[in-house]
Amino acid sequence: MSNTTKNNDFQEILVGRRSIRKYDSSVKISKEEMTEMIEDATRAPSSVNMQPWRFLVIESEEGKATLAPLARFNQLQVETSSAMIAVFGDLNSFENGEAIYSKAVELGYMPTEVKEKQMAALTNYYANLSPEVNKETVLIDGGLVSMQFMLTARAHGYDTCPIGGFEKDQIAEAFGMDKERYVPVMLISIGKADGAGYQSVRLPVETITEWK
Ligand SMILES: Cc1cc2nc3c(=O)[nH]c(=O)nc-3n(C[C@H](O)[C@H](O)[C@H](O)COP(=O)(O)O)c2cc1C
Repeated sequence: MSNTTKNNDFQEILVGRRSIRKYDSSVKISKEEMTEMIEDATRAPSSVNMQPWRFLVIESEEGKATLAPLARFNQLQVETSSAMIAVFGDLNSFENGEAIYSKAVELGYMPTEVKEKQMAALTNYYANLSPEVNKETVLIDGGLVSMQFMLTARAHGYDTCPIGGFEKDQIAEAFGMDKERYVPVMLISIGKADGAGYQSVRLPVETITEWK
């Protein structure tokens, strides 16, 4: 059973989103519903469909106690959220390349010859990929999936806050992950909003856009 009312009004989901920092701490999100939201979020596009995003769902008291000292000024979100999602980018994402492209063939989305050609090209691409471009790519893809997760959360009646203020150099290790491999993208708090949050302004389109 979900805690909240689902909403399929895209405009409301999009324009009504605000960073919410205080949640009803009595609300837990089931593993089933969290899985569904992560699954929907991962419909996001990614570079060569390598889906380098990785999610760490921090929901237990123990997990939150590990996270709290790393979360700087974001203690309220850690304390009151249903969960804190740490989104990482996997620098070894090509390890899943064969599985992803084989599945596409199996499902009839791609002919075998195309897959073989793509895999050969990608093997070469990843062998020569600079660490800088690899990191940049997983951060871009990780940002896209994070945004989709935040909108998906709203469709489930939850709110979120994207969080960059945390110890990025310590989070992977604190949760037993290889920090050379997993690059932190952001934390996302999620839960049932307690209060309406704050309105925020946006720059006018003419300030941020050029037309040629
Ligand atoms: C990458 C990123 C990092 C952020 N880090 C924090 C943070 O550490 N703590 C926090 O309270 N809000 C954080 N925010 C939320 C922003 O303050 C917020 O998105 C912005 O003020 C616009 O408000 P809105 O999200 O309510 O529209 C972050 C947002 C982004 C995109």
